[in-house]
Amino acid sequence: MRSITLDPIRVSPALSGDAFEPFNPQAYLQEYYSHLGEENRALLHFLHEAYACIFTETDSARILEFGGGPTLYQLISAAKYPVAIDFSDYLDENLREIQKWLQNQPGMFSWDDYLRYVLDQEGVSSDVRARDKRAHLIRTKVRRLLACDAKQADPLGANYRARYDIVSVNFVLESITTDMVEWDRLIEHVASLVRPGGYLLMCAITGATSYRVGDRFFPAVPITLDRLEGKLQQQHFSMMYRHAIEAEHQNLQGYDGICMVLARKGYVA
Ligand SMILES: C[S@@+](CC[C@H](N)C(=O)[O-])C[C@H]1O[C@@H](n2cnc3c(N)ncnc32)[C@H](O)[C@@H]1O
Repeated sequence: MRSITLDPIRVSPALSGDAFEPFNPQAYLQEYYSHLGEENRALLHFLHEAYACIFTETDSARILEFGGGPTLYQLISAAKYPVAIDFSDYLDENLREIQKWLQNQPGMFSWDDYLRYVLDQEGVSSDVRARDKRAHLIRTKVRRLLACDAKQADPLGANYRARYDIVSVNFVLESITTDMVEWDRLIEHVASLVRPGGYLLMCAITGATSYRVGDRFFPAVPITLDRLEGKLQQQHFSMMYRHAIEAEHQNLQGYDGICMVLARKGYVA
């Protein structure tokens, strides 16, 4: 098994009093991914469509998964294309959880239901051999695990500016601040990682001031799909796809819905 080491490129030390210190990968996986419900099926459907659309326009891509947390559902559709994936998160605990899965270690989270669902959507076999094969494909496509910080103007360091053909960022930028002005800056920081002509895939919770993980609540800022679209347009992105759904558990987890966008960066930056 190829070993993947954590790349120590953290660009700044964790902020003191950081709201993310108590984030527990297992509690998060349990809260949001233990059940393949309506929301998660909508996410998988969006990712399936978005990658199919991107790969009608491009042959191969360098992908950055930004703030990927301890989750891998977002790579299942991507992995079938000619891609090289850098996976990033702010917390080492999350990257260790990803490393555990990439190395097929005991105690890793099972994405089996998600693999089956995506393969079914693709209209191919979803039996155990096919699921193992796709899992193996994901493991071969993830090239590096990186530390990122959306609060830095260059979240991965200056060398990574405009480096990626595709940046995928899901439930991160609206989920790490309560301040709309800061959210605007976070979008700008992450948008700078996309090369001109490249793509941004983003899923976000809407209407939240916090969200639940087990018995804790984490900070959020109450964005809307229109606000997100406006901000991306200001950053020279044109919208290719936008979709919103209502939250599956209204009032229980802290948000009223989920929005999903695929946008392409213009050549004027
Ligand atoms: C709600 S989780 C989303 C995880 C995953 N992307 C998903 O789709 O479920 C928020 C993620 O943001 C990460 N995060 C916290 N502070 C961050 C920062 N300053 N820069 C980038 N990511 C951060 C957390 O470690 C966590 O993985």
